[in-house]
Amino acid sequence: MGVVDEVKERLDVTDFIGRHVHLKKSGRSFKGLCPFHHEKTPSFYVFPETQTWHCFGCGRGGDIFNFVMEYEGLDFRAALAELARQAGVELKPRTPEQQQAETEAERLLKLLAAAAEYFHQLLLSAPQAETARAYLARRGFVDETIRTFRLGYSLRSWDALRTHLTAMGFSVSELLKAGLLVEKENGGTYDRFRDRLMIPICDRRGRVIAFGGRVLHPDDKPKYINSPKTPLFDKSSVLFGYHLAGRAIREQDAVVIVEGYMDVMIPHQAGFKNVVAPMGTALTEAHLRQLQRLTKRFILAMDPDAAGIHAVLQGLEVARKTLDRELAPLFDPRGLIGYEGRLGAEIRAVTLPDGLDPDEIILQSPQRWQDLIANSQPIVRFYFEQLLQQENPHEPKGKARIVDAMLPLLADIADNIERDAYIQEIALKLGLDVRTLDERLRTRERAAAVRRQAAAHSPEPAAQGRDVEAHVLAVLMHYPELLPDVDAALIAEDLQPVQKEDFGGMYRYIWDAWLELDEHPEWELHDLLPVEMVQQVEAWLAAPLPEHSPEQWTRDVVLTILRMRRQRLSELITRLSALISEAQAHGDWTGSQHAQAMIDLSRYLGQVQSALARVGQGLQITLAGEERS
Ligand code: CTP
Ligand code: MN
Repeated sequence: MGVVDEVKERLDVTDFIGRHVHLKKSGRSFKGLCPFHHEKTPSFYVFPETQTWHCFGCGRGGDIFNFVMEYEGLDFRAALAELARQAGVELKPRTPEQQQAETEAERLLKLLAAAAEYFHQLLLSAPQAETARAYLARRGFVDETIRTFRLGYSLRSWDALRTHLTAMGFSVSELLKAGLLVEKENGGTYDRFRDRLMIPICDRRGRVIAFGGRVLHPDDKPKYINSPKTPLFDKSSVLFGYHLAGRAIREQDAVVIVEGYMDVMIPHQAGFKNVVAPMGTALTEAHLRQLQRLTKRFILAMDPDAAGIHAVLQGLEVARKTLDRELAPLFDPRGLIGYEGRLGAEIRAVTLPDGLDPDEIILQSPQRWQDLIANSQPIVRFYFEQLLQQENPHEPKGKARIVDAMLPLLADIADNIERDAYIQEIALKLGLDVRTLDERLRTRERAAAVRRQAAAHSPEPAAQGRDVEAHVLAVLMHYPELLPDVDAALIAEDLQPVQKEDFGGMYRYIWDAWLELDEHPEWELHDLLPVEMVQQVEAWLAAPLPEHSPEQWTRDVVLTILRMRRQRLSELITRLSALISEAQAHGDWTGSQHAQAMIDLSRYLGQVQSALARVGQGLQITLAGEERS
């Protein structure tokens, strides 16, 4: 049983609410004056059988968690903490393994923070760190940057760090787990980082989770040593600099992706703060997903050498697979033939001048860097130029290979005019007829559309009950950009936009938390929800959805929400009529107020039903139109 259920089991909603609201027994339920809106006669009910509450006056309702959230103005996580405390349910220890993992993670974070502080103090003032300080000065670092990134120095010693941290109470096995020590064959250990410039790597909230260590003497090898994979650190999902860049990425609506630590820190120092870097790996899906929440504009600024280009192209491949797609309608002379996914993101690349890294360019001239970014090329052109160098554009076979390699990128361009312009440019450079290229692209698109239609027409089992809510959440989480359209469609029907009351139980907490993330990009779902709910969301995001156009998805979500509301309203009406007859049987004539609530609910239900009819009909007509093809 999860903590949430455990709390619900231990705390009785009637007792609990009864401590805040004066409740009077009324048949099988309890009623009182609603604490959430002003009223003179009670329409606030608590139902012990279902452990829920509902106010027929203001429409608020839910379970014990929703009550606390509304009453105390808390988010779900805080409400859970509060109720768990009152219920005597220990929040952290879900299972002994999880408990252990969490306390272990907390210990490791403390340990890494202590290590970072130790290295930092050494760098600032130890005589042994003179070389490191001189090195940083030579590379253009000012004191403020050294402090912002909490740079440090590790002594040329096999055990200085171990001695320092064990004296603080951390164990050798914790140090090993944090990746700070290396185990010897004979069982002994030694400090992993010795005589290096220490660069702390932080999580999204700025907590140190690992280190990169750079050599200070050109002959030492390897140039960088990084922490190994630990329970806190996996380089395939961490971006260096994210915690300092998130805000700027959102404000400037663009992220610059560079290759290395120095290429993040020096731009940051020069005021270019929307910069992050993977750590010696290609870009991964996990990297891009984090960034995608902040912006849809990616600028890749990698080293100009062969390996750098390779990384750009690999990054591009991942980006094309990961980033959200907008489905665009595709027409042929007979009409609509389907939808083609177009990249909902703009990817550009900067060609760095030979032999120079971003940090070096900026130290020479910040203006030059700004110009480079401003003149970044759309990825299509960048890729085309790479292909011109790889293939022989004068040979027919070479031309064909270049064209075939370009097709997926061309197909990804959402804007028709832009796409046509590229087709012309490429045709001209390869000495081909524009129509040949165009035809090649259309053939490819038609094939893709046919495949997609076949997939879309395979019947899906209709979701039931709570599954329906899960379906809506899964779609909205996959395609957050649909929400405004869904809201607009509901408002056009004179109905409320998507609201938390549309979801019940755990789904409502999840929806609340999801919206909260938009306000706080530095948070993760883990900060807001217990682990079982996070896993639920991850499962939704991992499961692929059938391909539909945005319009189809919008209609699907609107219809589903209307059906959910119809269901909920019918239940409330049944409940209210039971309350009314029960009250009458007991000679308790609450009079006009219940009658008014009944009229309101019925009117609302009528509205939902006619909206359902209209939107549902719209669906029929459009589908019939689509089937012409
Ligand atoms: N890297 C690594 N291990 C190495 C070399 C590189 O992890 N042995 C990673 C580091 O994150 C590094 C990035 O790959 O920042 C890019 O490597 P490179 O271009 O060689 O280094 P720079 O970041 O340019 O560092 P510097 O300017 O100090 O040479
Ligand atoms: Mn460099």
